[in-house]
Amino acid sequence: MKSLLIVYHSQSGSCARLACAARRGAIREASLQITLLRAWDAGARQMAGADGLLLVAAENSGTLSGAMKDFLDRTLYPSIKRDLVIPYALLISAGNDGRGACAQAERIAAGYPLVRAAEPVIVRGEYSSAQAQAATELGEAFGTGLSMGIF
Ligand SMILES: Cc1cc2nc3c(=O)[nH]c(=O)nc-3n(C[C@H](O)[C@H](O)[C@H](O)COP(=O)(O)O)c2cc1C
Repeated sequence: MKSLLIVYHSQSGSCARLACAARRGAIREASLQITLLRAWDAGARQMAGADGLLLVAAENSGTLSGAMKDFLDRTLYPSIKRDLVIPYALLISAGNDGRGACAQAERIAAGYPLVRAAEPVIVRGEYSSAQAQAATELGEAFGTGLSMGIF
């Protein structure tokens, strides 16, 4: 059974809800083990056990939110040491932009290497049902691809 690790950081709750929506999508794939963790609680051990990684974070001041950056910083060297190559997907929540966080996350991912499994998704404004749907679809697509061995 393939495993999907969903890591999120959220200040106001938007990214937490998006991460849960993504899990709801991924869970539709019955043969997938899903772990949902706050960035503060996730580390190299969880990365090592994951077949896929979904990152959910906000854009703060034009960059990736601090806790998500911290998670990626903490796991970089251990991941390189373990020769990990993990497919990843990215979900960014932003007030009105999100491109800075997205670009930063993709640049960091390229150094791992994390391999892009899907186009990054940026949702803007307040959490809404449309955002939930976008997150669910991303989770489902990623989960399905993982369990089918596409990524
Ligand atoms: C300190 C701070 C800085 C922010 N900077 C940006 C920004 O540069 N660009 C943007 O589009 N939104 C920005 N926002 C809005 C957040 O990205 C947006 O509210 C997001 O949904 C927050 O998700 P979270 O509360 O789950 O962390 C910022 C919010 C905060 C609190």
